[in-house]
Amino acid sequence: MTRERRGVFGEAVAQYEAARPGYPNELIDDVLNYAEPVDRALEVGAGTGKGTVAFAERGVRLTCLEPDTRMAAALVRQTSKFPLVSIIETPFETWEPSEGFDLLLAAQSWHWVNEDRKWDLAYAALKEGGTMALFWNVYALTDVPTQAALLDIDRQFHVDTVGNTPSERPYEDFEGEIELADGWPAFDLVDDPRFTKFVSRRYHREQSFSTSLYLDFLSSLSAYRMIDEDQRRSLLRDVARVLESRGGTVSVGIATDLFMCRTR
Ligand SMILES: C[S@@+](CC[C@H](N)C(=O)[O-])C[C@H]1O[C@@H](n2cnc3c(N)ncnc32)[C@H](O)[C@@H]1O
Repeated sequence: MTRERRGVFGEAVAQYEAARPGYPNELIDDVLNYAEPVDRALEVGAGTGKGTVAFAERGVRLTCLEPDTRMAAALVRQTSKFPLVSIIETPFETWEPSEGFDLLLAAQSWHWVNEDRKWDLAYAALKEGGTMALFWNVYALTDVPTQAALLDIDRQFHVDTVGNTPSERPYEDFEGEIELADGWPAFDLVDDPRFTKFVSRRYHREQSFSTSLYLDFLSSLSAYRMIDEDQRRSLLRDVARVLESRGGTVSVGIATDLFMCRTR
């Protein structure tokens, strides 16, 4: 049976929860300041709640869509103390909004929504003047020799490194600010009369991972899930060998890119 790449995250819920970085507080504040007033927000592809909880803690009423049963179960656990969060197990494409939302959020998930329909779906879900806020973490190992060694391993195992793996690009590619022209995920949207007030922003962090946390992190990334299980096990063993020979920790640069606009 062929697996769809967008459906693999639930295979590694524990690793996802343990190792995936969340989002900077400053980003959450920036989204809420840009979007205000926010009463009801819709979150597309909420996963285990890495973005959800940050907004719920600020009192936002959230309707979360998550198609994967195992991710949704983790989301229920993570948000159990927030009565304003409701969870619907569905992909965005087959869900009908019954109200207009003030804010649509997608954390690390918008690229999985149907390419031909995503903007129409977003527009239909938002109130007039509503905000769309899309954000992604992009990762790059900060130590150049370690990155080269891990890229070699990726290549040996035919990992699709074109897709946000930490060994793919040097961190300096992500340094500085992001320009709208460099980053907006759909250039055609800038000419779409339904949307206005485009903003893009980049936030920088660095996080140190132990070898075992880094293996969990790789196990949660779709590029590594798409190789055979035996191959993945061998790859992780080789990665562990490299990291252990370099002190047992590795530093990952994380750039978080945020894109926002409003409906007219
Ligand atoms: C990389 S995870 C991001 C999860 C979470 N938002 C986060 O920040 O950690 C992508 C999520 O999008 C979900 N997803 C995939 N296709 C989707 C679709 N068509 N509609 C809604 N969610 C989708 C996946 O099940 C997965 O939970």
